Amino acid sequence: MNIILLGAPGSGKGTEAKRLAAATGMKHVSTGDIFRAEISARTPLGIEAESYISKGNLVPDSITVNMVKSRLAGVESGLLFDGFPRSIAQAEGLDVWFKETGRKTDAVIFLDVPDEKIIMRLVYRRTCSKCGKIYNLKTLKPKKEGICDECGGELLQRADDREDVIRQRLESYRKLTEPLVSYYKKAGIFHAVDGSGKPEEVDLAVSSLLGINK
Ligand code: AP5
Ligand code: MG
Repeated sequence: MNIILLGAPGSGKGTEAKRLAAATGMKHVSTGDIFRAEISARTPLGIEAESYISKGNLVPDSITVNMVKSRLAGVESGLLFDGFPRSIAQAEGLDVWFKETGRKTDAVIFLDVPDEKIIMRLVYRRTCSKCGKIYNLKTLKPKKEGICDECGGELLQRADDREDVIRQRLESYRKLTEPLVSYYKKAGIFHAVDGSGKPEEVDLAVSSLLGINK
């Protein structure tokens, strides 16, 4: 299966993708995580991506699509996209590449969360610098402040989780990413899930939609 998780910033794509990948063995592909790793390593791609990400803008389509294609060349397992595609041009690029490589998108799952919850989720998000586990200081606190329960890594706030950058990310989402809802509705593979419940409730809804037993 190849699945796309679609949703606004903070809708819970990363949280759900980690659960789904652990349950199914699908390869979790988060373009945001890949860009952040490139930024930390100060690669030319990372330095270029940072100039867009730090302002809440999307990285240009050609850079993103080529990065995904080169990262996934030779991967045989099912793909679970989180944060990709994010524009009509990226969706078309993915369709062409899937056609060339004999794959198809089986389902697009849209995590539907009201705006007021999104801001709260992003402002209080903390992420483990070592294993990537996602926390929230209001809804999913670590046992020990600032320390990951799983691996003991330091919990950090993402540079783009400042309120002014969040606002621009939401604007980019509305303008460039939301049109994907009708793109995938037309393709007959679109499913909306209520993303405003607890992570385990969201996971149950997504899993049952995909026919995965929990
Ligand atoms: P990216 O990293 O993909 O960020 P995003 O889409 O803005 O989404 P987030 O990661 O912020 O949120 P999420 O939906 O994963 O939510 P999470 O699970 O963490 O991209 C960052 C930037 O990179 C972009 O702005 C862009 O510049 C660039 N980029 C990336 N991909 C690109 C592309 N394809 N093209 C061009 N540019 C690209 O949850 C958020 C918080 O809520 C956490 O604290 C979590 O604990 C909490 N939470 C989650 N689920 C629940 C729940 N059910 N109940 C309560 N709390 C919850
Ligand atoms: Mg994410």
